[in-house]
Amino acid sequence: MLEVSGLSVAFKAGLALRGAALTLAKGERLGIAGESGSGKTLLGLSLLGMAPEAAHVTGSVQFDGQELVGAPETALRSLRGQRIAMVFQEPLSALNPLRRVGDLIAEPLRLHRGLSRAAALDRAAALLAEVGLPDPTARLRQYPHEMSGGQRQRVTIALALACDPDLLIADEPTTALDVQVAAHILDLLRDLSTRRRMALILISHDLRAIARVTDRLAILYGGDIVEQGPTADVLAAPRHPYTQGLIAARPVLSASRDRRQPLPTIPGNVPALADLPPGCRFSGRCPVELPHCHSTRPTGNPACHREAT
Ligand SMILES: Nc1ncnc2c1ncn2[C@@H]1O[C@H](COP(=O)(O)OP(=O)(O)O)[C@@H](O)[C@H]1O
Ligand code: SF4
Ligand SMILES: [Mg+2]
Repeated sequence: MLEVSGLSVAFKAGLALRGAALTLAKGERLGIAGESGSGKTLLGLSLLGMAPEAAHVTGSVQFDGQELVGAPETALRSLRGQRIAMVFQEPLSALNPLRRVGDLIAEPLRLHRGLSRAAALDRAAALLAEVGLPDPTARLRQYPHEMSGGQRQRVTIALALACDPDLLIADEPTTALDVQVAAHILDLLRDLSTRRRMALILISHDLRAIARVTDRLAILYGGDIVEQGPTADVLAAPRHPYTQGLIAARPVLSASRDRRQPLPTIPGNVPALADLPPGCRFSGRCPVELPHCHSTRPTGNPACHREAT
């Protein structure tokens, strides 16, 4: 359904995404993980033709055989309204605070489906029930600020589902929520994907969230997909030194961690765009790097010179 190849995004300062390749089948759930600044949001936005103004996007994104890179804005907008939907981290910014929840969800239904106001409101109530909000008919009259963070995120998911998308892209959808509420939202996303046979891309820096929801996982670092595979395999036996570092930094994945111990992290940060090394983006932070890592870009899966030998 989705086939991404050679997808690159260039800013003045440098290449923020370098030849990404991904595929996604109908109903499949893909996780995209990596530290902050590794290019996750940019990848998600580029799939929808929503990269920032200053970005130069090249390569190919095919959705059901239709090329989206360089497609006219009208075609992209109709696709975004109807077949691909996106959910972001902060539900408040996605919801117009001046509109009642019912009208927010009814609007795309009237616009894209030509439903009457009454029929659209009925459908909106059904969607609110589907995302697990109790008392959906009463909710229609509420404003976003009258709801909790978790309830608001359910509303943005209902809004995203309004036109029955084939693909939902969720970018850090639970980062602003507390742990228990986050877990419920993640389970909801997984269940919706199963029930509706809707493909899901979950973007997160949190490997526990990815493990909970996805079948396959791509690890992003400095704009490179450094490793991808079945989620369980990548998490149980990571092959790229960066993935190994990420997982070592989150021991809660495997055993119960002593909460008095500080969380270990990979030393250093993702360098700024202009400072990324030309070869392996992880060189300079990698504990096992080789002399040519800095200058020669590794290919393959995992993309690492250690694996090539
Ligand atoms: N509008 C922009 N102009 C210049 N650089 C940008 C812009 N948006 C993102 N970037 C750069 O692209 C890289 C990836 O950012 P982002 O996709 O937001 O990372 P993540 O979502 O993984 O935290 C970063 O180096 C960031 O500085
Ligand atoms: S290519 Fe070199 S620097 Fe990059 S992860 Fe592999 S060993 Fe480390
Ligand atoms: Mg991001």
